[in-house]
Amino acid sequence: MQNHPLNLSRELRSRLLTAMERFPALCILAVGDIMLDRFIWGEVNRISPEAPVPVVEVLEETRLLGGCANVAHNVAALGGNVLVGGVVGEDPAGHSLIHLFHNLGISTEGIIVEPQRHTTTKTRIIARNQQVVRFDREDRTPIRPGSLHNIQAFTQKNLPRIHGIVVSDYAKGVVTLPFMDRLKAQAGASAIPVMVDPKVEHVDLYRDVAVITPNHHEASQMAQVRITDEESLLRAGRQLMERLACDSVLITRGKAGMTLFLRDGTVDHIPTVARRVFDVTGAGDTVIATLSLAMAAGLDPREAAILANAAAGIVVGEVGTSVVTMEQLLKAVNGDSEPKFCHS
Ligand SMILES: Nc1ncnc2c1ncn2[C@@H]1O[C@H](COP(=O)(O)OP(=O)(O)OP(=O)(O)O)[C@@H](O)[C@H]1O
Ligand SMILES: [Mg+2]
Repeated sequence: MQNHPLNLSRELRSRLLTAMERFPALCILAVGDIMLDRFIWGEVNRISPEAPVPVVEVLEETRLLGGCANVAHNVAALGGNVLVGGVVGEDPAGHSLIHLFHNLGISTEGIIVEPQRHTTTKTRIIARNQQVVRFDREDRTPIRPGSLHNIQAFTQKNLPRIHGIVVSDYAKGVVTLPFMDRLKAQAGASAIPVMVDPKVEHVDLYRDVAVITPNHHEASQMAQVRITDEESLLRAGRQLMERLACDSVLITRGKAGMTLFLRDGTVDHIPTVARRVFDVTGAGDTVIATLSLAMAAGLDPREAAILANAAAGIVVGEVGTSVVTMEQLLKAVNGDSEPKFCHS
């Protein structure tokens, strides 16, 4: 089943296509909390004699890039170039991440290894298509000063080739006040937009950035406004705009799509295009990755949000993947005909 058509005007479709054509020439720096998503697949045929819990017979294990690493994967799948800055531990999960990045041809030069740190890992055990349990390994303490310095030096060195910076913050130790202050200064000096997938408790670190993309729960907590209807949504968004003085706030609203707030006071509601929904995890990563390439390609925030919403509508309809390819997005923009760049 196809998604709802995007209903783009001829002019907007042509602008989106022209922007997408630029993706391969663009480079995004994704910095923040790198994670490994581990899935252990098995079967349950009995209850343990030791405790009232199912016994899972393990059949397979899969590993995926998560958090900031999934943002980087999404940028690469859309045909963009990506640099990654973050921290892993010297453990099997850290090695897996480095290996996964190498398989995708993504450089790991900006990934700092902290030997004493646990690589953030989320392990889900799944049997009969149901999650039996999830267990996390992580270290939420701030990264070491030497690691911070190395990420900043990596960023500085690459500023001339970076067109956009995504901060993927899950509050696992990378994003702190000194980190953000320096990053904003570095980006500002080169006029590079900074786009943040935020964490509620860090809200005041994101002042003056180009865009933040909270989901409605995060927006509600950050603004301390209970979002129950359109009026409270507008109040929350406007309050965040005022408090952070950013260029725009994009609140993602799950099945309700997204709402964009701009400095001039305009508000745009962008309904979801997804018709079938299988797996919504990681949709937020697809949104910010697409948004970053779109804005770096010169689209305005509203056009960029429309493209990001189209990408999110594709990714939620897929099982077992958390990225959207350039080909899929081209097809959606072209109205599900053959993928092509056509400027008519
Ligand atoms: N149930 C859904 N039905 C239709 N579209 C959806 C659904 N969930 C997500 N989307 C699409 O994906 C976008 C981002 O999803 P959402 O608002 O859930 O972000 P999120 O909570 O940050 O996700 P994540 O799980 O990555 O943290 C939405 O704006 C919408 O376009
Ligand atoms: Mg999110």
